[in-house]
Amino acid sequence: MSENGSGAPHQPGPPLWLLAELTYECPLHCPYCSNPVNLGSREQECDTDTWLKVLSDAREMGAVQLGFSGGEPLLRKDLEQLVAHASGLGYYTNLITSGIGLTEKRIAALREAGLDHIQLSFQAANADANDLIGNKRHSFEQKLKVAKLVKRFEYPMVLNFCLTAQNIHQIEEVMALCCELEGDYVELATVQYYGWAYLNRDHLLPSQAQLIEAEAKVNVFRDKQDGKGPHFIFVTPDYYEERPKACMNGWGTTFLTVAPDGSALPCHSAKILPLTFPNVKEKSVRDIWFDDFAFNHFRGNDWMQGPCETCDEKDLDFGGCRCQAYMLTGDMYKTDPVCSKSPDHHLMAEAVAKSQTPERELVYRDPKVKIPITEI
Ligand code: FES
Repeated sequence: MSENGSGAPHQPGPPLWLLAELTYECPLHCPYCSNPVNLGSREQECDTDTWLKVLSDAREMGAVQLGFSGGEPLLRKDLEQLVAHASGLGYYTNLITSGIGLTEKRIAALREAGLDHIQLSFQAANADANDLIGNKRHSFEQKLKVAKLVKRFEYPMVLNFCLTAQNIHQIEEVMALCCELEGDYVELATVQYYGWAYLNRDHLLPSQAQLIEAEAKVNVFRDKQDGKGPHFIFVTPDYYEERPKACMNGWGTTFLTVAPDGSALPCHSAKILPLTFPNVKEKSVRDIWFDDFAFNHFRGNDWMQGPCETCDEKDLDFGGCRCQAYMLTGDMYKTDPVCSKSPDHHLMAEAVAKSQTPERELVYRDPKVKIPITEI
């Protein structure tokens, strides 16, 4: 055991990637959102000074990449101030946005403030499906305008499409749209099941046949690109894999997420775990990162049980995702059931089977709204 008694064998390096979730408020209500089901209130959000200090402290420790995310970060009036501060500190700054509310005036102000990069999400490749999934009329139209603005202001542009059983059949349409919009990179990301997406998993999870067909279409499309146009990245869901992902590149090694209320987390989902997480309103980022019990809890290998404990791949995947292990087995110390070596691996096949006949209605991210969108 280490000197901190947590099982972390070495002093970790600094957090390299800081995700600042400025607010969970969002104009869209996507049922695949990975935000927690308990969204909290705006009154709990960190104020500007708290964020400025978090940015300074993490940068001083060595953080280099900064994502402004949410919810919708554009809903924070101090976004430009935070971007300017981060840019002055030398971060590479990325705005992760739905695009709703990104006017020409605002994009110019963000450029002036030093924003480096914009990631713009779409819900689908046409207005009907896009607006239905996000539960907001005319949002597709607005996103098209924003994509043009992003290019006009010469930002590198990542386009993000979350793929589910509802829209995965439109993947060729999606790729054609990305070419038209001149995206630099495109994430064709089948949803990861956390937060609202986990709640709605039985509706959202594509079948294996849908996935195979989609991947084949992506490959054909890529071949025709002949090296031109966007770089497409196709991300498959864990549920059909045999080995777990090295979640967050290992707990507490690289990523630090600060939630809107100031909770400091090793990943965006960690609050679901039966651990107490620190808050940047009460502790410095340095104290949190190096000394907090929750951050040290899954560092290193001492926490592992079988089969991870003796597995020769444990330094590659770190036992997989702690949040997924907890959601699926109720035990955060277990091997991620995605792994075929896990005695719980059958849970994945059971989840896939269950997804063919969802037992209850799909819910939008806003719990007040309940509209089935199973047919698009
Ligand atoms: Fe929390 Fe994987 S999302 S450890």
